[in-house]
Amino acid sequence: MNAKLGIIFKRRSIRHYQAGNIAPETVQDLLKAAMAAPSACAKDPWRFIVVTNKDTLNRIADGLPNGQMLRYAAAGIVVCGEQDQAHDGQLSYLIQDCSAAIENLLLAASMLGLGACWLGSHPREDRLLHLRRVLEIPASILPVSVVAVGLPAENKDARTRFDATKVHHEKW
Ligand SMILES: Cc1cc2nc3c(=O)[nH]c(=O)nc-3n(C[C@H](O)[C@H](O)[C@H](O)COP(=O)(O)O)c2cc1C
Repeated sequence: MNAKLGIIFKRRSIRHYQAGNIAPETVQDLLKAAMAAPSACAKDPWRFIVVTNKDTLNRIADGLPNGQMLRYAAAGIVVCGEQDQAHDGQLSYLIQDCSAAIENLLLAASMLGLGACWLGSHPREDRLLHLRRVLEIPASILPVSVVAVGLPAENKDARTRFDATKVHHEKW
């Protein structure tokens, strides 16, 4: 692994957190990183809901079977998209833009010594409905994913899942 790319290899899904809060300025830094991501025609269709209220985090977790760590997270950042504002009004651009923002957010969390994990909601209808209900998200806004963020209580090795058989050269 190229040491200059260590930041990328060090980012791992962290699902165990210590008790403790994250400063609002740090959350702001995470959001600035997220909104530095590439976006088709710079339409920036991403929208964010920052949740730190414990009751709300627990209620979100009630509808995300693979998101139980939210109960122990300092924050959940719900990454949403507004399809009307995406390039060409296309859902695919919304998803791609939001995904780029999520990856930036995850990398920033890792660089700041926080633990974070991507929790998918789209395209699972039951999870979308649940997030809509709990967070009062209007119909025009799509909650793509939730990112759980907290003070890490586990440390994972840097790695890549590089697989040469998945790479083609010059043509398929
Ligand atoms: C679209 C998407 C949805 C995901 N949803 C969940 C989830 O609901 N719960 C979870 O614990 N991890 C979730 N993950 C994290 C993956 O499980 C994780 O990235 C993968 O196992 C690779 O591990 P790493 O992130 O440590 O490299 C999701 C990742 C992506 C890209």
